[in-house]
Amino acid sequence: MSTEQSSNKIDFILLGRVLSLARPYKSAFILAASLAIILAPLAVLRPYLIQYTVDNYIMDFNYDGLIFMIMMLVGVLFLQAAMRYSFIFVANLLGQSVIRDLRVKVFRHITRLKLTYFDHTPVGRSTTRTISDIETINNIFSQGVITIIADILTLVVVLAVMFSTSWRLSIICLSTVPLLIIATYIFKEKVKAAYQIVRTQISNMNAFLQERITGMRIVQIFNAEEKELDNFKEINREYRKANINTILYYSIFFPVVEILSASSLGLMIWWGAKGVLSNEVTIGVLVAFPLYLGMLFRPIRMLADKFNTLQMGLVASERVFGILDNNSFINNKGTIQPEKLKGHISFEKVHFAYDGLHEVLKNISFDLEAGKTLAIVGSTGSGKTTIINILNRFYEIKSGKIQIDGIPIQDYELNALRSRLSMVLQDVFLFSGSVLENITLRDESISREEVIASAKLIGAHEFIEKLPGGYDYEVMERGATLSMGQRQLISFVRALVFNPDILILDEATSSIDPETESIIQYAIEKLIQKRTSIIIAHRLSTIRHADTIMVLHQGEIQEMGSHDELLQLKDGHYKELYEMQFNTTTA
Ligand SMILES: Nc1ncnc2c1ncn2[C@@H]1O[C@H](COP(=O)(O)OP(=O)(O)O)[C@@H](O)[C@H]1O
Ligand SMILES: [Mg+2]
Repeated sequence: MSTEQSSNKIDFILLGRVLSLARPYKSAFILAASLAIILAPLAVLRPYLIQYTVDNYIMDFNYDGLIFMIMMLVGVLFLQAAMRYSFIFVANLLGQSVIRDLRVKVFRHITRLKLTYFDHTPVGRSTTRTISDIETINNIFSQGVITIIADILTLVVVLAVMFSTSWRLSIICLSTVPLLIIATYIFKEKVKAAYQIVRTQISNMNAFLQERITGMRIVQIFNAEEKELDNFKEINREYRKANINTILYYSIFFPVVEILSASSLGLMIWWGAKGVLSNEVTIGVLVAFPLYLGMLFRPIRMLADKFNTLQMGLVASERVFGILDNNSFINNKGTIQPEKLKGHISFEKVHFAYDGLHEVLKNISFDLEAGKTLAIVGSTGSGKTTIINILNRFYEIKSGKIQIDGIPIQDYELNALRSRLSMVLQDVFLFSGSVLENITLRDESISREEVIASAKLIGAHEFIEKLPGGYDYEVMERGATLSMGQRQLISFVRALVFNPDILILDEATSSIDPETESIIQYAIEKLIQKRTSIIIAHRLSTIRHADTIMVLHQGEIQEMGSHDELLQLKDGHYKELYEMQFNTTTA
């Protein structure tokens, strides 16, 4: 679960970095800023015109002049409305464009990160970063920086006009401002803290839901619904509490501001009326000042909110930049881009640890000639999948050497290398989309005909044809509506259409009924023809024809040889396994 904290000050370096994201939209930025700057003094124009009208036309009963002034006022009003509309539109356009680019950037970055990152980061957190955190950054553009500057500008202009009109009246009006500033400051701090709790709770809720919905099967099978419901209620309660807190501060703050501004107004009327009587102040001023006052209080009140928005945007951007600054990529300095690999794989004294500490593979050495098949057997956790993970360069090895066709794997360009390898994993992952798209992974260069040909070759065509819509059958998320065997076959076709030079099957047959097994068995034979293959399997029937069989035990190679050779070994592990599975005693 993530906690979100922030410092008290505006981090200008960070702000600069956020603003630099707007560089491609310089003209929109300048337009928005100019509009904001023009809008500020324009806002003061109306009360000023009203004051002028009252003093010069109404008091003099100048009807034509009054009509003219009213038209002026309407004109200013429309101009202001048009400019305000443009400002809001441009500012949001700017913000949305910036965050669209940022999302793409973050997603691209995430897709290139090392798998280690995903081993340690909850899915919910990555989603929150790419969606809601980035959304918050939008506010920096639409409500943050530019409007804050505009508000401050408005304040300055209003104050200037007020003081130049009547400094005494201005001072009377401003007498409550210190209180307002104190109230605003307290409010700002409270709300900020409360919002941070809200965000933490959102993130917790996201992570919780994500995990439970993905694992709903487990929740239901273990009758954990009630317990999970209680957990959810707890999180939901916290979330509500956090939200109520923020609303509480608002509900206190706004009336306080009301009271202060009403007091100012009262003081002003009292003093102003006296001023009018003694001819010190004109009626026009008395009419205009309440308007100025409104213009003074509103921005001060809003500033607190906007500073919070800005700060929250900065906190979010810090977290998003945290992802962008995470450079734990698999290093891709290799340059060799083979059209085709022969498929000769060799491991030389390879050691590997996921955490850099506890070795999961120890001193692994083997040599697999091009076109041959290696089978790996061993108990769960012995390191079989890990051998594949490092061959694919999902993880980097600690020491030793892995070569393909006599070239260290890190000398190949990463994508070029991976495109020559295909993997079929035990838990097939299907995306939502058609069967066809799941096979081609939306690679346009693979034609429908190729897909059908591959499916026919390994015997998957028949079942796909029978699905409603055939190859266009819409697979639901994670392939929930297909059987395990069907998913497996689809992933076999996927592996085959890419026509890899090296094929890897990781326990591809372990969750399949005997009937489908014969189809799969056939598919495997087709798949491994003419290419180097590594097969991990529990069913020894699947692997007995492999050229070499490796028995792995706690990360070390225990035995290695052909089926017949291994059966010759006295007290061999493979022999023991074999006898266990087939219930035959050769001795
Ligand atoms: N992503 C990972 N991060 C840390 N440890 C892992 C990871 N994947 C596997 N392991 C550990 O490495 C060991 C070997 O796992 P694995 O190669 O998956 O075994 P298997 O032979 O069942 O395929 C296990 O002890 C497992 O806990
Ligand atoms: Mg495994």
